[in-house]
Amino acid sequence: MEAINDIGGPAQPLLAIRGLQKHFPLKKDPLGRGGGVVRAVDGVDFEVLKGETLGVVGESGCGKSTTARLLMQLIAPTAGEVIFDGRAVGSRDLPLKEFRRQVQMVFQDSYASLNPRLTIEDSVAFGPQVHGVARNEAVHRARDLLARVGLEPQRFAERYPHELSGGQRQRVNIARALALQPRMVILDEAVSALDKSVEAQVINLLLDLKAEFGLTYVFISHDLNVVRYMSDRVMVMYLGQVAEIGPSNALYEAPAHPYTRALLSSMPSMDPDHRTEEAALAGDPPNPINPPSGCRFHPRCALAAPVCSQQVPARVIAGAQQAVSCLIHEPGSGHPMAQALAQAA
Ligand SMILES: Nc1ncnc2c1ncn2[C@@H]1O[C@H](COP(=O)(O)OP(=O)(O)OP(=O)(O)O)[C@@H](O)[C@H]1O
Ligand SMILES: [Mg+2]
Repeated sequence: MEAINDIGGPAQPLLAIRGLQKHFPLKKDPLGRGGGVVRAVDGVDFEVLKGETLGVVGESGCGKSTTARLLMQLIAPTAGEVIFDGRAVGSRDLPLKEFRRQVQMVFQDSYASLNPRLTIEDSVAFGPQVHGVARNEAVHRARDLLARVGLEPQRFAERYPHELSGGQRQRVNIARALALQPRMVILDEAVSALDKSVEAQVINLLLDLKAEFGLTYVFISHDLNVVRYMSDRVMVMYLGQVAEIGPSNALYEAPAHPYTRALLSSMPSMDPDHRTEEAALAGDPPNPINPPSGCRFHPRCALAAPVCSQQVPARVIAGAQQAVSCLIHEPGSGHPMAQALAQAA
């Protein structure tokens, strides 16, 4: 584990996730059939370093939002722990209320996140007041932040959410997240619903605010191009687990996990010389109620060997310093390509 923790240089982790699991129980039918659990997040370990942006990618249903909700303590984990700046979240060292001030979240749906009966100034000032900031000071802070996200307070402060465009509402949500002066912001598809030109503006705003306030981001998105642009490191999830995690450039230029390669090859490339030979992903991921044995990706993997359905891959360092869970990269795993690798070394 030591080596994995060192990835990304000497920066200290702001957030450390250990053995995180979320199993949603399924209802039984009236005859008592069914039941079981959805293994939405199933043994996830990673760290977010101070000041970095960790991108999170993976197909729909792979557990990105559930991971985000677990990080935020919006839902209780089945197992595992969340450690923030060296302190266990929810312990006496770091009560939930204090953690909730330091970590904020922005969701995809800009409208649902805002109270339709509050002016945007009141929306932004609301959080700080709940946390004990005096009304005057909270309003002052709200106006500052509205200006900072490009919504001139004179024009916008008194407006209601329905009077704004989607892009403007998402700026309000960002201002609202920052009003508590958090250290970390989790962005779950926060720009995905915006038009391309508005999306680019909001992305650049997020980068500016990060530099200005010294923030740390977890940036979840379907858009692999946007994730690359935003992120220092990227985590690739598959069926509730981490397939690969590592520095952005390394991961995009030399992906180690066959799933990462397939995911990237399904990405539209601007450069015709750069298209990979790899088959793009076919079909949907299997059901997380009954995930495949061994490596969960094996039924869809072009490089699967018999061992892949029998053995759960460990996390090893591969390629240009990514951590990857794939038997091909595990010396002596019994995968024919792993042996070749061991002989070559
Ligand atoms: N409250 C719930 N009860 C039961 N199953 C759930 C619940 N929330 C999520 N799931 C299931 O958990 C799995 C992971 O869902 P999650 O929303 O975390 O995926 P995601 O990676 O965010 O997907 P998307 O890219 O579509 O946003 C899915 O199979 C989903 O159906
Ligand atoms: Mg999601």
